[in-house]
Amino acid sequence: MMEYLTTQGIQLPKLGLGTFRMPEDICLPAVESALALGYRHIDTAQMYDNESAVGSAIANAGVPRNELHVTTKVWHTNLAPEAILRSFDTSLAKLKLDYIDLFLVHWPTTGMDLPAMFETLLRLREEGRTRAIGVANFTLPMLRTVVEEIGAPLACNQIEYHPFLDQTPVYSYLRSHSIPLVAYCPLAQGKVTEDPVLQHIADKHNASPAQVALRWLLDQDGVAAIPKSQRAESQQANLNALKLVLDDEDRRVINALRKDQRRVNPPFAPHWDA
Ligand SMILES: NC(=O)c1ccc[n+]([C@@H]2O[C@H](COP(=O)([O-])OP(=O)(O)OC[C@H]3O[C@@H](n4cnc5c(N)ncnc54)[C@H](OP(=O)(O)O)[C@@H]3O)[C@@H](O)[C@H]2O)c1
Repeated sequence: MMEYLTTQGIQLPKLGLGTFRMPEDICLPAVESALALGYRHIDTAQMYDNESAVGSAIANAGVPRNELHVTTKVWHTNLAPEAILRSFDTSLAKLKLDYIDLFLVHWPTTGMDLPAMFETLLRLREEGRTRAIGVANFTLPMLRTVVEEIGAPLACNQIEYHPFLDQTPVYSYLRSHSIPLVAYCPLAQGKVTEDPVLQHIADKHNASPAQVALRWLLDQDGVAAIPKSQRAESQQANLNALKLVLDDEDRRVINALRKDQRRVNPPFAPHWDA
């Protein structure tokens, strides 16, 4: 059974499908397969260059639109108001949708004009073109500004989060404002499959390390996860993680894993520990 988070008027399925590094020819069948298996949350971005394929897969699947959650993101070079609007229009057209469920700022930049950005994002929301707005890769000081000074209704902060990375400061802040954390790279880009500790817990439950990692994330209040998988077996396995039950000892052991392994840190990333 799919589990949901309610945030800023939308119902976010806690498990979604990531589509980064899926070129269109791979993305189309992968999203079709995921929708057929029961995924109802698809995560794409302007930068992934696969929104057209995501849109075609959605059109082919015939899932009722109101049962589907689609997130897309505007790239950090397009954060001026006119560029946001242009990017949004292009994404919506490629996705072949009338509206998007969640529109995110993909990365912050130094010198971004936060009030102007959020005025533009809110305009898209007021016009009903996106049901909700949010951010990705925002640090604690940035979140404070957006939430406490600008008062923007953030539906999430999408950040890297998995058993090998600590996100306690940002997560605590998000919890205190009831803002979901959407975990990207929830499988540490596949590295969870090589971890003996996760394997040991998986063996105990007749599960896989990927499923253990996903259940550990989704057991946390206000956390969603968007594992990427192009293979139907892995897509199904990741859905099955929802049926797994971890115990306190499992959680204690996973919490004690080394948590300093950030995998996504491009040159334009913010200073994470600010
Ligand atoms: N906002 C941002 O800046 C940002 C940054 C990075 C990622 N993201 C989003 O987050 C999504 C997920 O992150 P990610 O794709 O980087 O990494 P990930 O989901 O942690 O890992 C994906 C890798 O794990 C493999 N995998 C998936 N399910 C598996 C399973 N059950 N067993 C074994 N291996 C499995 C996949 O292989 P197969 O495909 O072959 O199954 C793929 O190689 C992205 O696709 C994207 O949508 C957002």
